[in-house]
Amino acid sequence: MGRDVIVACDFSNAQAVFDFLDKFTGRKPFVKIGMELFYAEGPSIVKEIKKRGHKIFLDLKLHDIPNTVKKSMAVLSSLDVDICNLHAGGTIRMMEAALEGLTRPDGTRPLLIAVTQLTSTDQESMENDLLIKEPIDKVVMHYAANAKNAGLDGVVCSPLEAGKVHEICGKEFLTVTPGVRFADGDIGDQKRVMTPAQAKLIGSDYIVVGRPITAAEDPVAAYNRCVAEFID
Ligand code: C5P
Repeated sequence: MGRDVIVACDFSNAQAVFDFLDKFTGRKPFVKIGMELFYAEGPSIVKEIKKRGHKIFLDLKLHDIPNTVKKSMAVLSSLDVDICNLHAGGTIRMMEAALEGLTRPDGTRPLLIAVTQLTSTDQESMENDLLIKEPIDKVVMHYAANAKNAGLDGVVCSPLEAGKVHEICGKEFLTVTPGVRFADGDIGDQKRVMTPAQAKLIGSDYIVVGRPITAAEDPVAAYNRCVAEFID
């Protein structure tokens, strides 16, 4: 899969997401389904959106003992999504177990990427709450290297970290980056943002864009603008 724009469909129920996706009569966006929608609607929402012809990033961020993650990933592999994820903080062993679980009997599997440190975690909370005393950039790169060593396909990271992740883990290692805003847009609660064009320059493989598209007056136009800046 090449570079793409992933639309974060942060809606609370199936009808809202279908109403939104119905607007896209041309190119069908790559869709991110998060915990809110998945917990509200269950696995059927994944099957419905897949049936409509969209690629899917199922953003459930698994983090548990290796055996539980392995078995859960085996369940997710049957949903035929394109990307799944987990927390790199669950250790290399957990990530290896996840890959095993995700791999179908025929050897195929969805891409598996890791969350390093959440962008809501800052240096202070990492030091005080988690007792991790290293600089956060170093921790993010260490977790990315762990994900690479476990055999994963990439990480979710800030677009500002994407270049460094590629330097450390190689060009083929995927960077999936939220925190994207148009140059003339509202940044909302995101702190460190980049435009789609800047994310392209820095080497992001996928940008995850939510409200700049979902809350736009014309979501299709906003999506097309992202595609034009990031892909074309
Ligand atoms: O609306 P917005 O463009 O900010 O949406 C970004 C999406 O990416 C949301 O679904 C958010 O949960 C997700 N995300 C993020 N930062 C991370 C990881 C995921 O914004 N570090």
